[in-house]
Amino acid sequence: MKDKKVGIIGVGNVGSTIAYSLATKGICDYILLKDIRENFTKAIALDISQAASLVSSNTTVKAVEKDSEFKNCDIVVITAGVARKPGMSRDDLLYTNAKIMKSIIENVIEYNKNSIIIIVSNPLDAMVYTALKISNWARNKIIGMAGVLDSSRMTHFIKEKLGPRKIEAAVMGGHGDDMVPLIESSKVDGKFLSSLLSKDEIDDIIKKTKNGGLQIVKLLETGSAYYAPAFSTILMIEAILEDKKDVFPCAVRLDGEYGFSNVVTGVPIVLGKNGMEKIIEHKLSDNEKNQFSKSVNSVMSLIDKLDENTK
Ligand code: LAC
Repeated sequence: MKDKKVGIIGVGNVGSTIAYSLATKGICDYILLKDIRENFTKAIALDISQAASLVSSNTTVKAVEKDSEFKNCDIVVITAGVARKPGMSRDDLLYTNAKIMKSIIENVIEYNKNSIIIIVSNPLDAMVYTALKISNWARNKIIGMAGVLDSSRMTHFIKEKLGPRKIEAAVMGGHGDDMVPLIESSKVDGKFLSSLLSKDEIDDIIKKTKNGGLQIVKLLETGSAYYAPAFSTILMIEAILEDKKDVFPCAVRLDGEYGFSNVVTGVPIVLGKNGMEKIIEHKLSDNEKNQFSKSVNSVMSLIDKLDENTK
């Protein structure tokens, strides 16, 4: 069987946590790490390799300096970019991270033609759009991680109110202030959320879910969340490497689905060895439809700003 190789560009908190979890789980044969901080990346590669040997994992972790050596990956995860500081929204990172994304993608596509690319950098939806535009790759091959993370936050806040139960909750739309927690289809032990909590309690869950990232940015003071973003990415990597056909909300380009085209936003997709294998079109209530349109429109205005800026 072919060796499985995952490349990670950007070895900050999210990138290194993804590498650590992947290596200690032993679900791929090679992990390549790349970051502009070369010695730092070598140190992280050694440290994670040594952790992997403690659990007898056969994963080899390597720091790579040359673009031409970062090659033939099955999956490339891009976390590179600046993270927001307290007082900044994800959108404030737009131009800086689009520039970084452009230079990374040009190299990645040259040496990783058969790869699936998972983008984690913010503002997420606009970064996926940028990567698709620069690469001209098919939309199934470049996917953004956000819906899994936002859904995990929604689940967490439901659990805070109702205790550990079987919770089904999902978030659609862009990974920004207008994301859409799908309250009407959320269930706890098979019962609709609306039959278990008051409107005020549900509004509180919506607010906390939308602010989930910001709450951590404020508390950390030096960066943004990384354990849940990393683990969300791991679930996507596993689905692709093992062709699991899991359904996850992820950021992909819509070509008519949900009534929108040429925009990237979070929708439920089937994830397998070809990346995004299918977009699932849920029936949304009128209220959810309105919120989803609002969220897609905010992503569109970011994309317009980027297109204007690169003319
Ligand atoms: C967050 C960042 C990663 O939501 O966007 O925590």
